Amino acid sequence: MCGIVGYVGGRPALDVVVEGLARLEYRGYDSAGVAVLADGKLATAKRAGKLVNLRGALEDEPPPEGTLGMGHTRWATHGAPNDRNAHPHVDCTGSVAVIHNGIIENFAELRAELEENGHRLLSDTDTEAVAHLLEDEVKAGGGLVEAMRRVCRRLEGAFTLVAVHTGDPDLVVGARRNSPLVVGVGEGENFLASDVAAFIAHTRNAIELGQDQIVELRAGGVTVTDFEGRPADVKEYHVDWDVSAAEKGGFDYFMLKEIAEQPQAVADTLLGRIGADGRLHLDEMRIPDRELREVDKIIIVACGTSYHAGLIAKYAIEHWAGLPCEVELASEFRYRDPILSPSTLVIAISQSGETMDALMAVRHAREQKAKLLGICNVNGSTLPRECDGVLYTHAGPEIAVASTKAFLTQLVAVYLIALYIAQVRGTKWGDEVFAMVQLLERMPEKVEKVLETMEPVRELARSLSGEHCVLFLGRHVGFPVALEGALKLKELAYMHAEGFAAGELKHGPIALIEEGLPVVVVVPPRAREVLHDKIVSNIQEIRARGARTIVIAEDGDESVEPYADTLIGVPAVPTLLQPLVTTVPLQVFACELASAKGHDVDQPRNLAKSVTVE
Ligand code: M6R
Repeated sequence: MCGIVGYVGGRPALDVVVEGLARLEYRGYDSAGVAVLADGKLATAKRAGKLVNLRGALEDEPPPEGTLGMGHTRWATHGAPNDRNAHPHVDCTGSVAVIHNGIIENFAELRAELEENGHRLLSDTDTEAVAHLLEDEVKAGGGLVEAMRRVCRRLEGAFTLVAVHTGDPDLVVGARRNSPLVVGVGEGENFLASDVAAFIAHTRNAIELGQDQIVELRAGGVTVTDFEGRPADVKEYHVDWDVSAAEKGGFDYFMLKEIAEQPQAVADTLLGRIGADGRLHLDEMRIPDRELREVDKIIIVACGTSYHAGLIAKYAIEHWAGLPCEVELASEFRYRDPILSPSTLVIAISQSGETMDALMAVRHAREQKAKLLGICNVNGSTLPRECDGVLYTHAGPEIAVASTKAFLTQLVAVYLIALYIAQVRGTKWGDEVFAMVQLLERMPEKVEKVLETMEPVRELARSLSGEHCVLFLGRHVGFPVALEGALKLKELAYMHAEGFAAGELKHGPIALIEEGLPVVVVVPPRAREVLHDKIVSNIQEIRARGARTIVIAEDGDESVEPYADTLIGVPAVPTLLQPLVTTVPLQVFACELASAKGHDVDQPRNLAKSVTVE
């Protein structure tokens, strides 16, 4: 969602800020703006639409050169995505400028109060109220940092705020509650951003900010305090990837690059977690084995693609760890009455670690004293701070809105957790866990094999670009894979796509089948005879009704050949691990189909990479 960049140092701020905004484009946005402080004056520019429009405006009317500035990409919540509502917003005097990510829930009261006191608000946004509140508080004395503290104490909801004031031309102030903000620490220059991608070209040293903290950014240093003014403990970290990881590297889209990176991402996520003796070592989970033995139920909370990883985790956990496991959409979790206790382990899965629904679910679980484990890809994000332990996926930065390599690494993480719990609890014979771990280590080469054979999938996708609907069927772990295939197609190709459990066909969805309708079927391995044969019957049933069957089955599965209009082979692997290979063709399919339709593959319409508001 909204992207934020702040800079103070020795370089032309506008260049740094616009470059940072370009690196945050992937978050999703519909307008953009900048503010630069030069010669004691604030200059702002903002435009609806993509950054290209803002760049055009800046070329037509270049602002004076300054070394302090900030920029924003806005994903509209309050008010239409037009020039007027784009950030930054300024106060009545034009001396305070503010950018914001999040939703200020009590903005209507604040606006009414401000208008009653004579302020003129020009936009429809919640953010503008903050600019005017800061105006009053700066006038009341104490400087911009103190003003920000006083304003934050009045705000309800989620926010990252960044503000500058002409009265203090070496200062950028940031504040955060329930919304992401990180500090980039340079030499003689410092940065603020929604995520490290914005400043990774300049520094890999970052500071994680906690809840309800204020950061005072000057060229010569960074000070972090809480909303009451008390010094805060800061956690500095080094970003373990460089700017090349956040570039397309010769691929047409980030998504294509990220699909291609999957074998490495899977290997990196396994790295260092399997001992020479074949035993798993997941010390970073920070949940002692003794406590893991006491766990009697696991609940997984997540959204979107991460939720699909959770659905697959359920099969692995119940089978290997022998524990009951529920999977819940994070957005629903806290609005019902889940039964939790200190012996419940809640696992939150989130690539970004900033998805508001996932964070709220975790807080809800914490209130009920459950143990909390995060699976997260972004170091320095909020989720790991809010959990007892975390297992990081090592996918590297995922820039395309559609999640690909993050999903595969989430699967690796849940397999590791399920096998580790099995190891700790002794629920499976050591040799079965050992055998699975060995197989996991071979998965990067299997995923690589799938990638080598994707040309027919691309051709198929291009041939289907005129279709309006595609259905996906699967059984067992193939069902969440079907859901994931449908989600990818919806978000990228804007097509009607639904995933179904194949066993449910006759309970309704079969009525959708008509002549020529493309139906993708994910077939379990032949070794799972009962499941396999049932889905082969399902393929026959839909084909008899005219469906165009696109079958994903393990290499050499001749039994499906007579019923497949298109057959996509994947390497043979055990059923539980099969999603690691069957998901890949579906990613390639959606990407190619969207590209054939001329869509923006990396930034699909209306979507944001991390959904930081509820
Ligand atoms: O960062 P998270 O994993 O918490 O994000 C969850 C979903 O928003 C995300 O997976 C979304 O569904 C993707 N765009 C799917 O490709």
